[in-house]
Amino acid sequence: MTEHAHAKVEKSVGLMAVLIAVAISFGGLAEIVPLMYQAETIQPLPGVKPYPPLELAGRDVYVREGCYNCHSQMVRTLRFETERYGHYSLAGESVYDRPFQWGSKRTGPDLARVGGRYSDDWHRAHLNNPRDVVPESNMPAYSWLAQNAIDADQLTAHLQGLRKLGDPYSDADIAGAKDAVQGKTELDAVVAYLQGLGRHAPTADAAGAAPQAGGAP
Ligand code: HEC
Repeated sequence: MTEHAHAKVEKSVGLMAVLIAVAISFGGLAEIVPLMYQAETIQPLPGVKPYPPLELAGRDVYVREGCYNCHSQMVRTLRFETERYGHYSLAGESVYDRPFQWGSKRTGPDLARVGGRYSDDWHRAHLNNPRDVVPESNMPAYSWLAQNAIDADQLTAHLQGLRKLGDPYSDADIAGAKDAVQGKTELDAVVAYLQGLGRHAPTADAAGAAPQAGGAP
């Protein structure tokens, strides 16, 4: 009896692995490739602008300190999430997030809607030592942020880099970055960044309404 092609595949682990990978990739391609061409997933929501310099500096500190190891920034489309945090996250909110901070690890609460929830002073006290305001907190203290000045040159370079990638920063935005962070500390920057999170999210009332552009539920 001649050996069928199928028998050959079954006897060769390497070939089988390659073919399985090819077969599985179709599912991924069918889901991911259309997203790259769908305008609504890459269009910012109304009002969503590139981060102002101080918030961008804060975002850099957020990434550097690894806050994402404990905090996601993505409200899922589940009722208990929208009731706790607000409207579920939409793709159009994170168009200018490079890299995005969605995540799934939540040792602490999701932060996608934290902007405006607390005062600046609360955030300062909390970042300096979380136990001062939330006695049972196991979040680390970030007391050094108040001592570190923002590196304005690095920030300017970052803005220029983002513009090369297509973020619509104007010459004036870039030229003004230095002044915008003059005399500010990393703590100021992180607080500004946190207070901006979720600023352009649809309101919680809309959570049950039809999905907006940019977010399939
Ligand atoms: C080891 C895990 C961990 C890390 C790392 C961490 N956090 Fe937290 N965070 C928590 C926990 C747990 C809470 C809930 C208790 C509290 O409010 O302190 C929290 C709460 C918060 C809150 C209040 C959220 C709310 O809705 O009440 C903010 C804001 C926050 N963290 C910001 C940050 C920032 C910014 C960083 C990085 C500089 C950071 N966290 C790093 C664990 C962490």
